[in-house]
Amino acid sequence: MAFRVLGIESSCDETAAAVVEDGTRVLSDVVASQHEVHARYGGVVPELASRAHILNVVPVVQAALERAGLALEELDGIAVTNAPGLIGGLLVGLQTAKALAWVTELPLVGVHHLEGHLSAVYLEAEPPPSPHLALIVSGGHTSLVRVDDPGVLAELGRTRDDAAGEAFDKGAKLLGLGYPGGAMIDKLAATGDPTKLVFPKSMTAEEHGSDFSFSGLKTALLHRVRAHGVPEGQALADLCASYQAAIVEVLVRKTRRAARKLGLHHVQVCGGVAANSGLRNAMRAAGAEDGFLVSIPSPSRCTDNAAMIAAAGHYHLIRGERAGLDLDATPNAPLARA
Ligand code: KG4
Ligand code: ZN
Repeated sequence: MAFRVLGIESSCDETAAAVVEDGTRVLSDVVASQHEVHARYGGVVPELASRAHILNVVPVVQAALERAGLALEELDGIAVTNAPGLIGGLLVGLQTAKALAWVTELPLVGVHHLEGHLSAVYLEAEPPPSPHLALIVSGGHTSLVRVDDPGVLAELGRTRDDAAGEAFDKGAKLLGLGYPGGAMIDKLAATGDPTKLVFPKSMTAEEHGSDFSFSGLKTALLHRVRAHGVPEGQALADLCASYQAAIVEVLVRKTRRAARKLGLHHVQVCGGVAANSGLRNAMRAAGAEDGFLVSIPSPSRCTDNAAMIAAAGHYHLIRGERAGLDLDATPNAPLARA
């Protein structure tokens, strides 16, 4: 018997709903992005995000059910992101999920957003086996995690300041490339020379273990822009390529070191920054050199979506876990630390 889970995601600036069958087959995957709402402010404005989630959540859930060709009663469970994220946005998704669970009497589980990102890879044709090493790189987080089983995790290290996605977004803002700017830097970097400029690669020494730091990189870019202004044409492409290369090098170096140390032969990369072509290529090249297999979700499953939340929720639901209608939203909830 197929087991179908409705996933709901609203922790940042995407309102998303999806139906996933047996934790692997995506029956529908609907994402309403708010990028246009926030672009003029150069970052997510929490109150505007909450309001947009309220407007979007019911149509998005309806579209997910329609595209899956299912009625609510045909589902087997509901999974909702309840941590971490912007509290207003989390509450909109959570209240919607609770209301649906209450009227249908379907089982409900709360999903940690990062566990969602980690589960996107189970929707791909050849997911990595357990245990494996995971690099989570998103707008809000940068962590190395050992995945012992789906949903059984140990965080090995994380950023001490900015996330990798923040380094991309703040860099893009300084260069006047719009918000969110990671994809724009990626695009410009494709025609640039990554060796043209040298940017700092922080915390790469052995003693820093699996922790990261990206704030120095952003400051270096700020000083450069103050001194020389924002370049144009090929020089801008070279600047983007060099800046991106510094982020990618730190991420890849730390991941391959952790894989070697832990003796893990499978690595996954997930979260919005995993859509970056420079990171995808460099991690695959490192895997080929060091002898580990690299799994990365398709780019649209790297950025926020609800299919990954449904996939993560699937494992909790089939283990019999159930949340009550008192399930709460937690804006700051770390993954378990090793
Ligand atoms: O996972 P995500 O959608 O949201 C969070 O959970 O934060 O990640 C969003 C982040 C943003 O910082 C965005 O600039 C970045 O992912 N991003 C990229 C690319 N596509 C999205 N960064 C670099 N290259 C890309 N192609
Ligand atoms: Zn995310």
